[in-house]
Amino acid sequence: MGIDGLDLISPVRYGESGQPHAQWEQLRKEPLQYFETEDREPFWAVTRHADIMEISSRPEDFSNSNGIVVLSNEQAERRAKGYPVQMKTIIEMDPPDHRVFRKVASGYFTPRGIERLDEIVETSARTVIDRLGTEGEADFVENVAQKHPLRVLATILGIEPHQEEQLLELTSQLLASDDPELRRQGEDRHEASFDLMMDFFNMFNTIIADRRANPRDDLASMLANATFENGEPLGDIETLGYYLIIFNAGHDTTRHSLTGAFQAFLDHPDELRRLREDPSLLKSAVEEVVRYTAPVNYMKRTATRDVVYDGQDISEGQILALFYASGNRDETVFEGPHRFDIGRSPNRHLGFGWAEHYCLGAHLARASIKALLAQMASRIESMEHAGPAEYVSSSFVVGPKHLPVRYKMFDH
Ligand code: HEM
Repeated sequence: MGIDGLDLISPVRYGESGQPHAQWEQLRKEPLQYFETEDREPFWAVTRHADIMEISSRPEDFSNSNGIVVLSNEQAERRAKGYPVQMKTIIEMDPPDHRVFRKVASGYFTPRGIERLDEIVETSARTVIDRLGTEGEADFVENVAQKHPLRVLATILGIEPHQEEQLLELTSQLLASDDPELRRQGEDRHEASFDLMMDFFNMFNTIIADRRANPRDDLASMLANATFENGEPLGDIETLGYYLIIFNAGHDTTRHSLTGAFQAFLDHPDELRRLREDPSLLKSAVEEVVRYTAPVNYMKRTATRDVVYDGQDISEGQILALFYASGNRDETVFEGPHRFDIGRSPNRHLGFGWAEHYCLGAHLARASIKALLAQMASRIESMEHAGPAEYVSSSFVVGPKHLPVRYKMFDH
């Protein structure tokens, strides 16, 4: 089967047909393949679990500094002219800087650090499920999946509940700018993203000023007053960059994994019953949700020198797309990789990446997903599709933008 590079990377294709699992299955049989498409940068497709791990473990050869997204021709042209395409945050850094910057917040995101958020996470999950009432029909993206991570992240970043809607609007505009439904209507694309960025900065600047004057025991205060190991304070732009990456990296990813969880349980009602009967499966269910849904579809790396990899010549400056979603279905690692199995063990998935840039928020994401799965299993008696799911036009952070569901809750 010939594979069209657009199948792998075109936002429109993902919007129409979801992740290209059949194409990836073909590609996993071959060494890395190079794809040129008419509207994006050319890239090497990295689809096997072992190759993703190896390449992620060699930041000196495969760098994040050239960005994490395969650019459209238009974006690549802007970058070549020196315009910034994205703000530089830890995810676009390499060692040694990356390790210095990551340390600033990594203490907060340890399992012990996250334990103190248990109450926030559980209250948020309970509240979104409470709002569904006793039975009815709802879009589970809008009413459940996006509300829960928003509440959790807004709380740790010091955003007041009345600002959540504005924040949601800003972030969905910024992140889903390939999707026409989610973009600001009728605006010039670049002007719109500049305005959005300014709105973001203004919101976070107010919080930073407040937390510098009145520090509390939260992440917002920690970032506002953060210093490097040598005692130097973070600059203003660096502090804002941290807010931006935590919110951006945390929101849509968790939202899509939650919607993906609902979809998976709608399609596998036996697994929902299994979870309800045995809540000790919650932990492995969370890992399976992240493996199966893989909301971070890929991340880009750029070769820092000419490298021969598995017999292929990769030239300095060439781009590689690490398809985590493909690695998570690698048949040499996962038995029955397309099966959704909440008891799967072992489950060495790559949904949170690997090595140098392993997801900083993984423990928080796990806690958020676990709290919602617990509510879902114990309170939803039945649910079924109430219409077709629609997908965001994005090949980067992927998932449904609408998931209509008919549901009924238990009486208790
Ligand atoms: C299910 C939800 C999530 C998924 C699937 C996910 C996935 C990922 C992946 C695959 C990476 C690796 C990037 C790379 O290889 O370059 C990453 C990095 C990162 N994630 Fe997550 N993430 C999730 C939730 C979160 C949350 C809740 C936060 C913050 C509170 C967060 C913050 C970050 C940050 C800051 C990085 C960059 C780390 C670095 O460059 O060292 N993520 N995430």
